[in-house]
Formats: sequence, structure tokens, C-alpha cells
Amino acid sequence: MNVLAGKHIALGVTSSIAVYRACDMVRLLRSAGAEVHVVLTRHATEMISPKLFASLSGQTVAVDDFGTGASYKHLDLSKSDLLLVLPATANFIGKAAGGIADDLLSTTYLATNPKRVMIAPAMNTRMWEHPALQRNLKQLAAMGSQLLMPENGNLACGDVGMGRLINLGEAMDAVEYYFTPHDMRGLKVLVTAGPTKEAIDPVRFISNHASGRMGIALAKNAWLRGAEVELISGPTERKAPLGVKVTKVVTAIDMHAAVLAKIDVADVFISSAAVSDFRPEAASVTKLKRGKTKTMELKLILNPDILADVGNRRNATQTIIGFALESTLDTVEAKRKLKAKRADLIVLNTTKALASKRNQVILVGEDSVEDLPEMFKEQVADRILDRIVALRKAGKR
Ligand code: CTP
Repeated sequence: MNVLAGKHIALGVTSSIAVYRACDMVRLLRSAGAEVHVVLTRHATEMISPKLFASLSGQTVAVDDFGTGASYKHLDLSKSDLLLVLPATANFIGKAAGGIADDLLSTTYLATNPKRVMIAPAMNTRMWEHPALQRNLKQLAAMGSQLLMPENGNLACGDVGMGRLINLGEAMDAVEYYFTPHDMRGLKVLVTAGPTKEAIDPVRFISNHASGRMGIALAKNAWLRGAEVELISGPTERKAPLGVKVTKVVTAIDMHAAVLAKIDVADVFISSAAVSDFRPEAASVTKLKRGKTKTMELKLILNPDILADVGNRRNATQTIIGFALESTLDTVEAKRKLKAKRADLIVLNTTKALASKRNQVILVGEDSVEDLPEMFKEQVADRILDRIVALRKAGKR
């Protein structure tokens, strides 16, 4: 779903030290298809050239020039689909909260419906903690604007604490959330993702090539579509999206326990993890030595089947989605797994999907087989979620 395509976003840039990161934000918004109109405060223009933003955005940049002609720039900008102020200084936040409009950005803010405004503060920790600033933030939130909360970390001035501008990936998640239709609102979705790791000794383990990309895309897109999402993730390098609650696990036993602890309140369960079917019977507490023998035996025992256990205790209103990872697109085997694990839908894919950005899947239901073309996993995720929405609408679950 390319929800930012063709959207007009006014990007207000103020004179925080994080001002340079607004350049990357322009790039991210544009590459997602949005048209970005930058408005710089006078102090921001002393830190960074409007010409840079003009080149990056491909649009004229609005600055405080108070020229001689009639100027309604603030009114034009206020008609944007979204006003994002990133970075926002304490000064801008104070003016916005108090309704003071004494320059182009603050007049643009005052002419905009506060529900169409997002504000990403960035400042020194002591300013962040000041009661006046905190009061102003509360005021902005009460008026319906969304705050993109800063992070805790190293600040440009050398201090460490709250006030560092939000990670831009998370800011993008928030913007996408704003524009995505929330057709999964009210649903509690539980997703498993990634591989599991089963220790042989403190150094070695059994695992697989799963990257977690598919499960994280499902979790992210379900959240973007308004669902309340919990992700139970095996070890993966990939970052979870802004609004998703994550539980990190390592082994199949841990994942099994985490899922069973949360499944009863879930409306939807999506089992996309590549769970190790076996684990060493007993992990050695010390490193196994090379020794002198030419072979070595490792006794493995079967791990619990998480999806099957969920299927066995499912209630009538839950929707359960499993995957089938096969060497070929074998729909007979997918149908077998659908029945054996009491799922509503099996997403059949092949081992080519592992560690790839793209996937070709067949959605196998009780009496349906939908063959999808190869596409990015994020797009596959949306097709799976479409099916979940349709299943629930049809009252099948
Ligand atoms: N699954 C699970 N727990 C396991 C193994 C698999 O929850 N211990 C889930 C997977 O997340 C997936 C589905 O079961 O949704 C099918 O997984 P797959 O690896 O395709 O099949 P297996 O059941 O492991 O059977 P086989 O390895 O024989 O194909």
C-alpha cells in the first residue's frame, strides 16, 4: 500500500541543532511518493540554506521574507494533507501551544486544523524537562496534534538524556499510520517472526536462514491498519515498527510459552516464525571440545508445534493463519497443514523466501486457493491482511 503517494506534506523546520536531519526526512517522504513543501523559520535559515531544501524537495521553499506583495503562503501551506514540524524547538512548541503567530511557520500552524499536525521536538534535556515545555506539549496533544516523542541518548551539546530527535524511520511509521485507512481497528493481532536458536553449547546453535522480514512486515502493516499488535520475535537484526509491542525470544520453548501466555486475548494469530523443529536434548554448559574421534553424535528432540497448540485451544472467534515452508509450491502439503494445525489459512511459500526481500506465495484456505505473483514481502503482508479482513467480515471467524 503506497499511502503517501500524491499526498501534500508541509514540513516545518525550526532551528534545533537536529535541523540537518530534516534533509533526510524530505528524502524519505519523497521516496514514499509524497510532495513536500518545506517552510523554514528565520533562525533555521541561518543554520541551513533554503536552497538545499529546494533541491531536495524539488519545490520552492517558504521562508519569512515579508515581501511587498500580498502573501497568503501560510494559508496555502495550511491546506496540506499534513503539517509535520521536524525538528520542533521549545520556542516553536511554546508559540504553537499559546496560539502565538508571529512568523510564517507559526501562522501556518495556527491556520491548520491541529488534528492534521505532527510535532517532533528536539532540544537539550534540561529544556525538555522544564515544566513550561511539558505543559505546552500536553496542550498541543489535548488540541489533537500528534507528538513524535524524542529519544534518550547522546545530545549534540555533549549531555546525555531525553531530547534527541525521533529516529526518522519511526517518524515515517507515524506518518504512514496517519494516512493508512484503519480497517483492522479493534482487532488484537499476535504475530510470530524470525528463526529460533537452539543451543548446542555456549558457542554453537541450531537455527535457520529466516530473516524475520515477513513477520515484521505483517506486524507493521497490521499496526498501520489500526490493529493492536504484539510481535513475538526470534533473534533478528530487523527493527520492529513504532507501534508494535515486541517480546524477544531465543528458543522454540520460549516462543511457545510467550505465545500461549498471550493467545487467549488475541483475535488473530499469524504464525510466520521459522521455528526449529528440533533442539539438542541437552545443551552442554561448557564448550564441546574437538576431541579425537572423527564423528560426533548429537541427540535432538522434537520442539512443541506452536501453531498446532494454538489451533487445538482456539476459540470460535479467532482467526488463525499459518505458513507452510516447502521445497516446492505443494498445495497438497499446505492443505494437510491447514487441517492438522486447525488454521483458517495457510500461506504456502518455498525455501527461496528465506532471507529474500521478495516472496511468491499461494494462499490456501479450506475451499480456496489463491495464487499470488512474486512481490515484496511488505506487499504479500497486505494481501494476507486483506484476506484476514475478508474472512472476519464474512463471519467465517
Ligand atoms: N510451526 C510452529 N511450531 C513449530 C513448527 C512450525 O508454530 N515447531 C508453524 C510455523 O510457524 C508455520 C507452520 O507451523 O506457520 C508450518 O511450518 P513448517 O515449517 O512449514 O512445517 P512443519 O510443521 O515444521 O512441518 P515440516 O517441517 O515437516 O514441513
